[in-house]
Amino acid sequence: MCGIFGIVSNQKSINIGKIALESIRRLEYRGYDSCGILSQYNSKLFVKKDAGKIDDIHKKLKLDEFPNGSKLALAHTRWATHGSPTKINSHPHLDCEDKIAVIHNGIIENFIELKKELLSKGHFFKSETDTEIIPHLIEENMKTNKNLKEAVANAIKKCKGAYGLAICHADYPDTIIVVRRESPLIVGIEEGKTTYCASDIPAFLPYTRNCYILEDNEMAILKAGTAEFYDINDCDNPKQKEIQLIKWSIDAAEKGGYEHFMLKEIYEEPSALRRTLKIPNDSLNKFAEIILSAERIYITAAGTSFYAALAGKFIITKFLGKYIEAIECSEFKTQLINSLEENSIIIAISQSGETIDLIEAVRWAKEYRPSAKIISITNIVGSTLTRHSDNIIITQAGPEIGVAATKTYVTQVLTFALIALEIAKLTKNESQEEIQKYYNALYSTPEIIEKFFEKNVELIKYIVRNLEKNLNFFFLARGISIATAKEGGLKLKEVACRFVEGYSAAHAKHGPISLIREGYPIIFIAPPDETYERLIGNLMEFKSRGGTIISLVVEDDDKITNLSDTTIRIPQPGDKYHNLFSPITFIPALQLLAYYAALEHNLDPDKPLNLAKTVTVH
Ligand code: M6R
Repeated sequence: MCGIFGIVSNQKSINIGKIALESIRRLEYRGYDSCGILSQYNSKLFVKKDAGKIDDIHKKLKLDEFPNGSKLALAHTRWATHGSPTKINSHPHLDCEDKIAVIHNGIIENFIELKKELLSKGHFFKSETDTEIIPHLIEENMKTNKNLKEAVANAIKKCKGAYGLAICHADYPDTIIVVRRESPLIVGIEEGKTTYCASDIPAFLPYTRNCYILEDNEMAILKAGTAEFYDINDCDNPKQKEIQLIKWSIDAAEKGGYEHFMLKEIYEEPSALRRTLKIPNDSLNKFAEIILSAERIYITAAGTSFYAALAGKFIITKFLGKYIEAIECSEFKTQLINSLEENSIIIAISQSGETIDLIEAVRWAKEYRPSAKIISITNIVGSTLTRHSDNIIITQAGPEIGVAATKTYVTQVLTFALIALEIAKLTKNESQEEIQKYYNALYSTPEIIEKFFEKNVELIKYIVRNLEKNLNFFFLARGISIATAKEGGLKLKEVACRFVEGYSAAHAKHGPISLIREGYPIIFIAPPDETYERLIGNLMEFKSRGGTIISLVVEDDDKITNLSDTTIRIPQPGDKYHNLFSPITFIPALQLLAYYAALEHNLDPDKPLNLAKTVTVH
């Protein structure tokens, strides 16, 4: 989620600051709320860091100017997780003596306990970040053991969570130590001259194509033009690693080898879900308590976030047993000007946290009913929405660059599901055993999506080719899957410029069905939930009028499969636990369909016509 970069060289004329600055610019897509660069010279560390975009900070601080002769630098571009995006929270973070510097991509899950322990030993902290415990842990270890490599290894062994780390010490002028667990870390080598490290290859691709990819629990000692690798649990015996030659262009490398950000981000859904599954229980529990205590609950959002709200409303009401109204944020004030009650709870949901209609809705609600509570779900720490909220949960999708929201949608629905299960625990309307089955289904969502990707891409491309001439589509569903129909339809509209009516299958016979002619394509979203039998009836209404039926079903479906022209099978069980979370597992199929349809029509899926990623005008 953050971008890290390091360089150590023995080249006389090298401009270390300039290289570090250019390199984090190439990583800016990984996070862009603050940045920092450090260089080491004459046993001193020189740090420049601040909140904001790299270019703005560079204008203020001249990020490429460091002492002449400096041969080592670390650089970081941040995507805030712990601590808002401020200068103090920007990386690098240093120990008490300003000797040890660390840049980090990931989350140290046990940082609160470790911080307490370090505070009791006299360490003082400047930031609110989880990262800052690492230089202090190393400092603490070096009190008894002057060996930097061992001190780093011992410190890291105490940390739980995910990390890609680059570390340097003022008194070790020619050494960077890197460590990895769960977060990516790559070492690039210009043999005998310069060594680089980065959380992604594009950072150093203009300088070298030779690299080593660190595995989990590996550590490397980087010196100018060399790298030595170790297992974190065995620092005495260096490991052999195979060098890899990178053939991608810089542009392709930024997209991780994918042709477009949209495709990369769809494929990142399993990892985004896994991170979101780790949202701390206390923040979910807080949301659950607030929702349970409320008389009136509204959810509000725009676009994809609104469709996540429709799915979320369905999942939460199942366990809450109270009505929740979902209102598009642009209509929020108009609809509630005469009826927003005291003490209402407003759940605001937004990927960016900057959508102007949403900000206006929550501002208005707070002014009109100061007793109303705003609780928000967003992907961006420090966004405007977070500043107007009483409580926030940050989804863990990571930066989303493609204009079409994809991985952020699944993490939003997952967040609603996690809150819903906290509500279930509190109301005790379901047994512990039953709740655990819902959790198990939720934990299996990343794997279901991975399996889906393994088997179905060619089928989706085939469907796209067959539908190439169709300009209009219906995406139909009942119950919770109406959210999937609407979101899937929005994707096809956005990136492939096809018109889609994402609609209730039952309601479609009250008018829209008059459009159906021979060959009109209709996609039915059909998990085997309580709406399944009735959906078959709706499907027949469209089939008997000549519609071409494509259905999204679970692995062992037979009834709808037999009635459809084509089926896309989602590799999951059709039990009630998995069906409830089908908005998460069924949507990748429709996102891929939209993506490949865009390519079929020679459209750039990352730059849909007339759209912006964040809508800040009314
Ligand atoms: O950042 P937000 O979630 O508030 O954005 C809301 C919509 O603008 C956004 O979802 C939009 O519809 C996307 N282009 C959908 O792919």
